[in-house]
Amino acid sequence: MEIAERVKKIQGSERSQRKIAIPKGAIRMDLGDPDFPTPPHIQEAALKAMRDNFTHYGNAFGEEDLREAICAGLARDCGVKKIPENVLVTVGGIEAINVICATYLNPGDEALVFDPGYSAYAVSVTLFGGRPVAVPLKEDFHIDFDLLRPKIAERTKIIFMANPSNPTAALLREDEIRGLARVALEHNLLIVVDEVYHKLLYDGARHFSVCQVEEAKDRSILLNSFSKTYAMTGWRVGYVVAGVEAIKSLVHFHRAMVTCVSVPLQKACLAALQGPQDCVAQMVSQFDRRRKIVDQALRKIDGIIPRPCEGAFYFFPRYTHSMNSKDLTHYLAERGLLVRSGTEFGEKGQNHIRLSFATSVEEIEEGMKRLEKALEDLK
Ligand SMILES: Cc1ncc(COP(=O)(O)O)c(C=O)c1O
Repeated sequence: MEIAERVKKIQGSERSQRKIAIPKGAIRMDLGDPDFPTPPHIQEAALKAMRDNFTHYGNAFGEEDLREAICAGLARDCGVKKIPENVLVTVGGIEAINVICATYLNPGDEALVFDPGYSAYAVSVTLFGGRPVAVPLKEDFHIDFDLLRPKIAERTKIIFMANPSNPTAALLREDEIRGLARVALEHNLLIVVDEVYHKLLYDGARHFSVCQVEEAKDRSILLNSFSKTYAMTGWRVGYVVAGVEAIKSLVHFHRAMVTCVSVPLQKACLAALQGPQDCVAQMVSQFDRRRKIVDQALRKIDGIIPRPCEGAFYFFPRYTHSMNSKDLTHYLAERGLLVRSGTEFGEKGQNHIRLSFATSVEEIEEGMKRLEKALEDLK
């Protein structure tokens, strides 16, 4: 049976085609998945909810108590006042991205995606008949508004951005978020800021959320997830925060796809938000230790041009060797180190690799040795 054209289109992407044999004993610095277990009090809350028979259909928008807790979290973190009607709970951040594209894009509409940037935005835009338009970032992976503005066309509907970013680990400044909001207002666009790494920050950095831009509240969507903050990637719970009317629009596709998010899992997320937050601080402190190890190691490798990691758990260094990033990724895999190819995140990712430090210190130390040796042997 022939598959539909829209699926054929995404089949060809480097993200979908990524087929790397995993050699025995390989060091995995390719995964965007915290290696920590989900904290026990969160696991316990899911089990209790199942025993307490929270086993029926739930509210399509998300359970009221969870949506209230999400609003309380936003009030605490960034001093904004939201109500449960501003929130839609989704099956991870990924479903949120797809719901947004399904709801707002007509065939032929365009969405701006930064390059290098998280590849799932372009995949989703394509899947729903839209056209992803790449906007190159500056050398330091921050936004160049002079490059952004000329990309806005008649059919442009959405701008997607992750803050902090996967793969670049850049943390956007307040003026960049305000700048994006201004562009959205001037051109009648929607900005979607993906804040799934908002708690994974270092060196005392502060996160400025798009929901703090009051004047753009009807032009912006905040997207978040429990995956990275609470080591819950396999639980698949995320959410969007937007204007009340936008949430009423988004729920249609969401309901059609999944009816509602699993209720016991939402109770676990409630425990994550309402319980002690020291588990997050502990994970961030471990990530920070690993970040420093990778940073120091990269600085010593000949031919690597390191870039700082300002947030999330990635490094996205450039390299000067002549091999393209897809081939280098395969070469490194043969040498027992799995990383992600820079071009998986856009053309501007050429000659870059993404290294994740969501793995143990021992693995990281060995991985960095393998990287150094493999690059040395290329000379
Ligand atoms: C920037 C970004 N957004 C969203 C996601 C998807 O997260 P979730 O597990 O919530 O679907 C990821 C996962 O890697 C990500 O890096």
